[in-house]
Order: sequence, then C-alpha cells, then structure tokens
Amino acid sequence: LASLADVDTPVAGRHRVPDRHAAVPPSAPGAFANTPDTDPSVPEHRVWVREILARVPDSTLGAGIDDARVHDAPTLDTVLRDAQRAGRAWGARPAADRAAILDRAAGVLEAHRGALLEVMASEAGKTIDQGDPEVSEAVDFAHWYAELARGLDHVDGATFVPDALTLVAPPWNFPVAIPAGSTLAALAAGSAVVLKPAAPAERCGAVLADALWEAGVPRDVLRLVQVDEGALGRELVAHPCVDRVILTGAYETAELFRSFRPDLPLLAETSGKNAIVVTPSADLDLAVRDVVASAFGHAGQKCSAASLVVLVGAVATSRRLRSQLLDAVSSLVVGDADDARTQMGPLIEPASGKLLTGLTELEPGQAWALAPRRLDDAGRLWTPGVVTGVRRGSRTHRTEYFGPVLGIMTAATLDDAIDLVNDVDYGLTSGLHSLHADEIGTWLDRVQAGNLYVNRGTTGAIVRRQPFGGWKLSAVGPGAKAGGPSYLVGLGSWTSTRATT
Ligand code: ALA
Repeated sequence: LASLADVDTPVAGRHRVPDRHAAVPPSAPGAFANTPDTDPSVPEHRVWVREILARVPDSTLGAGIDDARVHDAPTLDTVLRDAQRAGRAWGARPAADRAAILDRAAGVLEAHRGALLEVMASEAGKTIDQGDPEVSEAVDFAHWYAELARGLDHVDGATFVPDALTLVAPPWNFPVAIPAGSTLAALAAGSAVVLKPAAPAERCGAVLADALWEAGVPRDVLRLVQVDEGALGRELVAHPCVDRVILTGAYETAELFRSFRPDLPLLAETSGKNAIVVTPSADLDLAVRDVVASAFGHAGQKCSAASLVVLVGAVATSRRLRSQLLDAVSSLVVGDADDARTQMGPLIEPASGKLLTGLTELEPGQAWALAPRRLDDAGRLWTPGVVTGVRRGSRTHRTEYFGPVLGIMTAATLDDAIDLVNDVDYGLTSGLHSLHADEIGTWLDRVQAGNLYVNRGTTGAIVRRQPFGGWKLSAVGPGAKAGGPSYLVGLGSWTSTRATT
C-alpha cells in the first residue's frame, strides 16, 4: 500500500492538485455523501502533503489568536453582550439562510485543508494521516448541520427557539473537527458562538474561525476569544449571557464548569476508558490492525482511544495474537509530526501526572510487554507501551491515561470480558472483534458505551453514519450525539405552536 511517506518526483504541471480541494456541493436530496480524505495512492496528493510538511517547522498560521485575547472582565462582558445581541438577529434569520452559509463553509474548509493540516501539525503535533480526517469531518459537519437546520423551525407542531449565545469549549486533541462541529451546530441552530479554543491548540482555532468568517458567518455572530483559565475563564463560563456551553474535555472540567454555575445548560462529551474485546472467532489480523490504530493513533490522545484490549478464552492463552500485536506496536515509527515517516507523533505537552505514572510505573501483577521509552529531553516523544497482567479494579483498568499505553486484560468468557469493560466509570466507545453472530448480539445487548464498533477500531466516528457521544460519566447533559440526526434539537428550547383558526 502506498503511504504518505512515499516521495514522488512531481510530474511537470501536475504537482499541484487544483481540483482536489474544489468546493464540495451539498448532496442530492435524501443522500448524504461524506467527504473523502486525502488519498495516499494518488501521487499528486503525496506531493501536496510533502509541500505542507515542508512548511510546518516555520508555520505562523493562526497568529490571529493574539487579537482574540481578552485580558479583563469589562472587555469580556462587552464581548458577550454584543455576541448575545448578534445571536438574537442571527436566530431570527430564516434557517435556510444559515444553512446556505454552512454549505459555503464546507467548501471553504475544504479549500483550506492544507492550511488546517499545517497548523495542526505545527501546533498540536498531528501527523497528516491523523489531521486529514479531521478536516473531512469538519466539512461533513458543515453539510450535515446545514441539512438539519433546514428542518428545524417546526417539528411536530412545536416551534424551535434558538439559544442566543453558545460558548464552545473544545479540546486540543481534535483541534479542528471538534471546535468545527460544535460551532457549526450552534450556528446552524441559530445561536451566536463564542469559540474559546483549548490553549495548547489555540492557533488551530484561529485558522478555523478565519475559514468560517470567509464563508460568510458574520464576525459578530462568531467571536473568537482566548482567556487565561482562572478568574476570567470562570467569568466566561458563568456569564449570564451564555445560554449554553458545548464542552468536550475531561469529566473533571465538566464538573468544574458546573461548580462555576450550577444551573448551566451544559452539553459535554467527556472522558473515556475504552476497550476492544477479542474473541476466539475473530479475524486476528484485523483485530491487531484495529487495536494498534485505536490505541496509538495520535499517541493515544483521544477520548475514543482503546486503552485496553480484553483477550477472551483461547485468544488469551495462545501466543499468536500477543506476538502479532507486539510486533505491530514495536514497528510503529515514532517521531515529529513534520516527518512523513512518522506513524506515532508527539504528545501535546511533556508527559506528567497520571499519564507519566502510566508510562513509568507498574502495578502489582503487571509486567511490560513493551516498556515505553522517552526519546527526547522534553518528554513529548515516547515509544508506545504495552502492559500485561492488568487486574480488575487497578489504576490501568480504570484510569484514562490519554497517552500511548495499552493494557492487556484476559477473560475466560465473553460475559466476563463484558463485565470488565463495564466495570469503569466511563462509557464512551467500545469495540468487539468477533465473527460469531451470537457473540456480537450478546455484546451489543450488554456493553455500556455510547459508540459500539464491531470489527472496526474505536476512533474516527463518521458524521451521520456514526453519531458520536457517551454514556455514564462520558457525557454530562442531555447526551446528544454529535453528527447525529437530533443534535440540533437540544440547542435551544421548544414552544408549542399556538393553534390558530
Ligand atoms: N469523534 C472522535 C472519534 O470518533 C472523538 O474518534
């Protein structure tokens, strides 16, 4: 298979890909086409990627974030009041107008795919193969929420009343797709947005906001704001002009937000501790591929990552899966995001806290099948770790490390495996590798997670096809699923339409 690392000599006149990033038209009525990723089997795409990577080390994209910094409470108050006013006017516009702007946003985001990949690699350490699906997802969100907006005004005799102002607080690990999805959803529903990017990926947020303004989202309807976490962050979350907060982040952050304002309407997708179960009927080659991608893609820094694999029955006792898995993991090329050969990039910040513990300390009964090694002085580059002997109830069983550590657990039966999977506080994604219909049925009935994946990895939900959202402590609020059919209906309130004669 071709990889993005393969270099081609540009063919004269063909080393640019003029129509690769042409505006994507909305789908035909009744159909929804997801946007394709950059294709490493196309030589021109590989050359295009090399050009992006060459720009990464000196990239200054997203410098506009500096203009968005707010340093004091009176300024923040003015920004939020202005945004609330703009939101009322935006929400009064016909949904079709807003939808048309979102469809334009899809084309503009596609046109800026290269810039978005550049800033993600430069600021957030995202390799191209990890960043590229984010751009596709952002484009898909724009088209999908445009479609939903068109059907939102009246449903079953009730009228939708949009929020005036939504605060979007995205994470740094999907610094384009998640802020794009949350922002576009709120805009589609008729709310103004204050987008406060996560500090480690704030330049990504600025490039995204530029694209949305370019598409025609009014500047007063989408405000980019950066504040220091602390007193001003608290002020932002608790401000009475904010009708709703869409947060994606740690469960503790959702609790913190609620402590700032107990009545806060909060739609939060939070932490995960996700497992893939492998039964003896599984296609083991496929299982290994999906476990490796789910555990170590973006160095495991995904709420959807699989940080546990549970081997059932004969898969647990035979050497075959373990040795294939360890070969595959130890073959991963670790390096910087601007190196096309890199398969596992850096951590966003030097490992610390519970992640550092997970990377360096074993618990009783555990052994390293592959011990993580630190490759740089700063502590951002680590080789992937695999730990065996993970016991039920242990730290590795229950703690979200958010990094490149995979724990191996074993179970005698599928039922035992499901008990282990469910015995965590979270319930975001879950995977099963099995070719047995009864096993699949049992697992689907019993496993407690928002997104269930059979014979597939646990990351990379596709807009509309795999609405994304959690269960248990992986969601706070109504638990609406991003990219699903009912995401917008929770972003406002509903009034009964008055009967007229
Ligand atoms: N939506 C992201 C995924 O599915 C978090 O991996």
